[in-house]
Amino acid sequence: MRTHTGNTSLIGLAIMLLTLGACGGSGEPTTADKYKVPSGGGMEPANSPSKAAMISEADITLGEVDKALVEKGKSTYDVKCQACHSIGENRVVGPGWKGMLTRRKPEWVMNMILNTEAMLSTDAEAQKQLEQCLVRMPNQNLSKDDARNVVEFMRTL
Ligand code: HEC
Repeated sequence: MRTHTGNTSLIGLAIMLLTLGACGGSGEPTTADKYKVPSGGGMEPANSPSKAAMISEADITLGEVDKALVEKGKSTYDVKCQACHSIGENRVVGPGWKGMLTRRKPEWVMNMILNTEAMLSTDAEAQKQLEQCLVRMPNQNLSKDDARNVVEFMRTL
């Protein structure tokens, strides 16, 4: 039993070091320290798989940028995403958000937010990111509206 625990924490430490190496972005240790993965999360699916329906292209219409939604999306980012994502190009734990909607479809982004587990298990692009980051993004339990607001905020980045 004791050896088991020892091994597990060693492996955990190794993964953490690898992660910081792979996704530390600018590579400054201070930044990496600041954005530690929340305890218990990150290495494995944090929550039970979400039952949210997958979002399809028809579910989202992007009109003119709606400033009220942008503000709400930014608040959500500040509270629930900022620890792992920058709004620039640099990686923290996860990829930077700059230009997100030039490389991802809005429905893909919403599914990554609302159906994180399913995306990491089935979507090739999401899995590519996981290979680079080594940390599974935990589902942040956002409502569909919250996720839509985050997309609106991303349109400004
Ligand atoms: C504990 C760290 C963590 C938190 C908190 C987090 N993410 Fe992530 N996110 C990741 C990682 C790591 C990835 C890359 C995929 C993977 O490894 O699981 C990612 C990937 C993504 C992607 C895909 C990025 C791309 O370029 O393909 C989106 C979109 C995303 N996250 C949105 C969010 C939103 C929105 C929030 C807040 C509600 C959030 N994330 C909170 C770690 C996190």
